[in-house]
Parts: sequence; structure tokens; C-alpha cells
Amino acid sequence: MIPSVLPTYNRAPLEFVKGEGAWLTTADGRRFLDLGSGIAVNALGHAHPALVEALTSQSQNLWHVSNLYHIPQQQALADKLVEHTFADTVFFTNSGTEACELAVKMARKYFHDKDQPERVEIITFDGSFHGRSSAGIAAAGSEKMTKGFGPLLPGFVHLTFGDLDGVTDAVSDQTAAIMIEPVQGEGGIRPVPDAELKALRQICDEHGLLLILDEVQCGVGRTGKLFAHEWAGITPDIMMVAKGIGGGFPLGAVLATEDAASGMTAGTHGSTYGGNPLGCAVGCAVIDHIADEAFLAEVNRKAGLLRQKLEGLVADHPEVFEEVRGSGLMLGLKCKAANTDVVNAGYANELITVPAADNVIRLLPPLTLTDEDIAEAVSRLDKTAAQVEAA
Ligand SMILES: Cc1ncc(COP(=O)(O)O)c(C=O)c1O
Repeated sequence: MIPSVLPTYNRAPLEFVKGEGAWLTTADGRRFLDLGSGIAVNALGHAHPALVEALTSQSQNLWHVSNLYHIPQQQALADKLVEHTFADTVFFTNSGTEACELAVKMARKYFHDKDQPERVEIITFDGSFHGRSSAGIAAAGSEKMTKGFGPLLPGFVHLTFGDLDGVTDAVSDQTAAIMIEPVQGEGGIRPVPDAELKALRQICDEHGLLLILDEVQCGVGRTGKLFAHEWAGITPDIMMVAKGIGGGFPLGAVLATEDAASGMTAGTHGSTYGGNPLGCAVGCAVIDHIADEAFLAEVNRKAGLLRQKLEGLVADHPEVFEEVRGSGLMLGLKCKAANTDVVNAGYANELITVPAADNVIRLLPPLTLTDEDIAEAVSRLDKTAAQVEAA
């Protein structure tokens, strides 16, 4: 009999009832060190007092009003994002997938309104992940995600990750945009080198294309800058954001320049819940914390500390691990053993990591984790690796 919850996940036999900082507790009192953050969502850890306060005080006043009316919390969050980024304007969604939908629509509408309706194609890369909607799976294009779900939304050109020459060759008079994650998450923590992001920006400028960055996983302080593309010194035309921006409350956003957003006039897009007062009150508290230079400096310091210890771990366990990769607190351990064996062995040591493609385990801890948490994480990883070795 089919379970009452649609069985689209292979779930680990774990059930958490409470979270605090980087720690999760099960009903039977086991305390797990969370290096997954709900896949880069709990950027400020579990039950951060400022987020609890933002959510509870907003919930006592007003939960929801339609976007038919002005929503002050939404306005405040949009203003903060505009202040801290390249963007001139923001649309709020409930998820990264919805942000992808709008990014695709925005790019196509842009060229439609510029009298270039033939420009509908968006260049994407293998290993990418942009969500599970029809546009999201068509954008990523992998067989794993698309098989059985055809006919797929047309208009995506899939290239090999890192193949810059391929990009130049693929640009045609039908190309509208290039869509890329500055650091691939699901694809196995694969950072796009700064030089490559710069080159993509240049190709877009030369051919009048829009650069769409998917910062759903790598954004909101995760790499040690507010947004990952800042490391490369470039800006996109459109950016997808979600996960960390809500700190655990479902919230996403599309940020855009005035020009890129010019086609999105009244009536062209909408959302019942997107930009709702609860989500935006929490989002404001998240951005107030993470956009702070001192906070980001701490993320970078802790990232350096963790990475240094992980390099030592890899050297100590050459049969289990191959390399450390990633940026900031978006780290991957490329495994020699099966990554799922390492993740499962971690569970036995009350340690949460997340598998990704390319036989990688992801470490996406809360950005607030402490130095003691880092020491504990590496000690548990060391114990886990020794057990995998012995098995
Ligand atoms: C880079 C990227 N884009 C889009 C998505 C989809 O976001 P959501 O699951 O919030 O719809 C994800 C989710 O993992 C992601 O990592």
C-alpha cells in the first residue's frame, strides 16, 4: 500500500523534535551535530532568538494579506536586498523552484518586449540543479530528473560544466540567457572559477544576453560573501535566491536589474503567498544578521578553520576521502568510499552530512556554528571515517 506521505524520498530513519544552534535532538534524546542545515536552509542555526522573535511577534499581528495590498515587511526586505546587492527590484517566492520559474519567464519576456521574440533559449550546465518544476527539470536536463516527465519545456541548451568554448559556440540569435550556479550544490559542490564567471559575464555583455545566477544554495552568506558571485567581482542581471534567506521559513526571491525586469509589468506574474508578512519579517532578521560585515568575517574565519581541519582529515583517511572542495561554509568531501556509506556511518555517530552527486558528501553547517562545534564535527568525521575504513 502506498504510504500516506508520497514516497518520493528515501528517508533516513531519523525524527527530530527540537533544534538549537547547530544541534538537533531526536524524540529519544539523541543529539546530532547538524552539518546539513536542512540543505543550506538554517543559515542562522536552529531556533535563533532573533528569528524566533521576528516570527512570533509578526504572528501576533498579521499572518497573511494578499499581494493586492502593500505589505510593509515585504517592502522592507526588498529595500534591504536592493541596498546590499546589484539588484534594483525583487519579487518574492516561496521556494527556489518558483524563483527559477520567474527567472525563465523574466528572461523570455525581456526579449519579447525588446522585439526579439526569437530569443528564448537559455544555456545551462550539466550537474546543475534548478528545482523540480517543469522548467526546473528542463533547465537541469539530467536523465535522472527528466525521465518520464516529458514532453519537457523546450528552450534549454545543455553544456558541459566548465566548457567555456562550448558556451561561445552555443550562443546563437536564439539565445536569451546563461543560467548557472556559482557553486553547484546538488552537482557535488563544484565551484565555478572566478575567471569563468567573469568570462560568462563578458560573453553575455558581448551578445546582449542576460546572466542568471542561481544562488539558491550558495547565496546568503554561505560562501563568506552575502552572495557568491561577489568573489568574482561580477554582477548578474537576474538572481535566484531561496533557502538561507528564510532561515527555515519558506521564502525565495528573484533579484533583478531594472533593465532585466523591464518586461515584468502589472499582471505578468504573481503569487498568493510570496512575500507574505511572516516570511518577510523573518527574512529581514536574516539579512540584518548576515549582511553585517563582522558576521561575514566570522563566516570566513570559521570556514578557514574548518577547511584546514578537513584537509588534515582527508590526509588521515586516504582510503575514504579524496579531496576537500567548495567555498566558505559550502564544503564538499569527495569520497573514495561510497558517499552514502559515509553519510550513514555519520548518523551512527550523531552527525548529519548530506550526499551530493559525484560521490561527494556536503558540509553545509549553520553559519553560526562555533569553534567547539567545528572541533566536534571533525572529531565525529574522523571516527566515522575510521569505521568506514574498518568495514
Ligand atoms: C541551486 C538550487 N536551485 C534551485 C533549488 C530548488 O529550490 P527549492 O527546493 O526551494 O524549490 C535548489 C534546491 O536544492 C538548489 O540547490
